[in-house]
Amino acid sequence: MGDELRDVVVVGSGIAGCAAALAAAREGREVLVVTKAERPEGASTDWAQGGISTTRGDPDSLKQDILVASDGTADPAAVNTLVENADDAVHEVLVEILGIEFDSTGTGFDYAREAAHSEERILHVDASTGTHILRPFLNHLDGMEGVEIRQDTAVLELVTHEGQVQGVLTDEAPTGHSIYAGATVLATGGIGSLYPRSTNPAGATGDGIAMAALAGADVADMEYVQFHPTAYDGENTFLLSEALRGEGALLRNADGDRFMPAYHADAELAPRDVVARAVAREREETGEVVLDVLPVEFAEEFPDLETMCRERGVAGEEIPVAPCEHFLCGGIAVDDHGRASLDGLYAVGECSRTGVHGANRLASTSLLEGLVWGLRAGEDAASEAGSGSKRSDPALEAPELLDRDPDLPERFAEEKARRLRRTMDDHLGLVREPAEIHRAAAVLRRLKGEVDAYVRTRTARELYELRHACVTALLVARAAGENPESRGCHYLAGDERGVESPGQEAGNRP
Ligand code: SIN
Repeated sequence: MGDELRDVVVVGSGIAGCAAALAAAREGREVLVVTKAERPEGASTDWAQGGISTTRGDPDSLKQDILVASDGTADPAAVNTLVENADDAVHEVLVEILGIEFDSTGTGFDYAREAAHSEERILHVDASTGTHILRPFLNHLDGMEGVEIRQDTAVLELVTHEGQVQGVLTDEAPTGHSIYAGATVLATGGIGSLYPRSTNPAGATGDGIAMAALAGADVADMEYVQFHPTAYDGENTFLLSEALRGEGALLRNADGDRFMPAYHADAELAPRDVVARAVAREREETGEVVLDVLPVEFAEEFPDLETMCRERGVAGEEIPVAPCEHFLCGGIAVDDHGRASLDGLYAVGECSRTGVHGANRLASTSLLEGLVWGLRAGEDAASEAGSGSKRSDPALEAPELLDRDPDLPERFAEEKARRLRRTMDDHLGLVREPAEIHRAAAVLRRLKGEVDAYVRTRTARELYELRHACVTALLVARAAGENPESRGCHYLAGDERGVESPGQEAGNRP
C-alpha cells in the first residue's frame, strides 16, 4: 500500500471543500482535494438551485429570519459568524476571484426572495446557481499552485493515532492508499441517498459523518433531516426551487384549492418544514398537490426548470410536487472555525453541524455556510498543518485493506441499500411515529451488522458507502429516538402543533 504526505487533505469538492482548499492554499500550504465524484456533477453544490443569501445591508434582518425559520433553535453565535462574514465572502471569492456574474436587473443585482426570508436578498444565476459557482471554483483551484484535485477517489476511513486524525485511507488501487496530513477537512455533503427520493446526487451517503463518528468525533442534531416541499412528483425527480414561490407560484391540492393560507399566515412563504408537512398532508387527503406557476414568468425566469419539466412531459402551468429529502441540518459538531472534537479534524458544509440551522434551515444559507466555514476552516487548518506538530510519521499504523474482490456481489449491496432506504422513508421521514423510530433503529443495527461483516472481507467502494450509510442512518435514528420534542424538521406524529392545527400566525411557529 502506497502512502503520501500533504499539509492539508480536503475530502469533497463542493463549495465548502473548494473554499477550504482555496484558503489553505492561499496560506502557502500543499493541499490535496480528494473527491469520489466525477467532477463537478457529483457534488451537491452543482445541484443547488435557488442561490446564496447576502445581507443586502441589513444583517439583523437576515439573522432574525434564520432564527425564526429554525423555530428558535439556531445558535445565535453561529448565526452571527455566518451573517457577519457573508457579504465579504460572497464579494471577495465569488464576485472578485471567480468573476461569477449573478443575474442582474441592469442597474444592480437581481435579488430574489425565498420562503421565510423577509426580503429579497438572494443572489442567483437562473435557478442553477450551484453549477455557476462550482465550475469556475474548480477551474480556479486547478490553476492554483499547491492544489491538486484527485477525482474518482473515495475515502474509506480516517487514519487516526492516539485520538488524533492524521489523514485518510482512500480506495486507490491496488489495495488502498494512505494520505497523511497535518489537517484533514471533511466536506462530504449530505445524506440524500439514505432516502428513496432526494434532491442530492447519488453519492450523498453520509461518508464524512460516518467516518468521523466511527473515529470518535461528536455529532449533533442528526434528527433534523430537512425535506423540501416541492420536488417534482414523478420519475427522475428534481427540485422546483423555492424561488418559484418567492416569485408568486402557488400550491394547490387536487381540488384546485390554494391551501397554504389555512396552515400559516405566510402561506407559501412559511418556513420549509411547515410547507413540507402541509403538502404531504394535502397529498394524503386529496391525492395530489401541484405547484401553479401561472403567476410566474416561468419560461423566461426559470428556463432550466422549464426545460426539466418539458423533458418529463409536463407542459402546463401545474407541476405535480411532493416533499423529498433535501438537506441534513445536523452533522459533525464543529466550532466557529470548523474544528471538530478530534484533534486534526475539521468539517465544513452539509456534513458539519455549525449550529446555524438549528432544527430547520433557512433557504439559500447552505452555499453561504459552506463558503464562510470553508474559508475559516481552511485558514485554520493551514496554521494547524504549518505548526508541524500534526505531521504524522508514515510508519504509523494505517488500516491495511484486504485485496479487492472483483466479484462484488452487487445484489448484496443493492438489496441492503433498498432495505435501508425503505426503513428511513417509512420511519424517519417527514412525520415520525415514536415507537416506529425505535423499531427502525433495531432494523438499521441489524443491517449494519450484516454490512460490517462483509466489509471486513471485501473492499469495494460500494460496500464502504453502504457501511457509511448504515452508520449515518443509525445516528439519525438514535437522535430521533432520544428527542421527544417536535421541533422544525423533527416532527412526531400526533403532535398538536403544525399540520394538525392550520391557521398559524406569522412567526408563531408550529
Ligand atoms: C431551493 O432552491 O429551493 C433550494 C434552496 C436551498 O435549499 O437553500
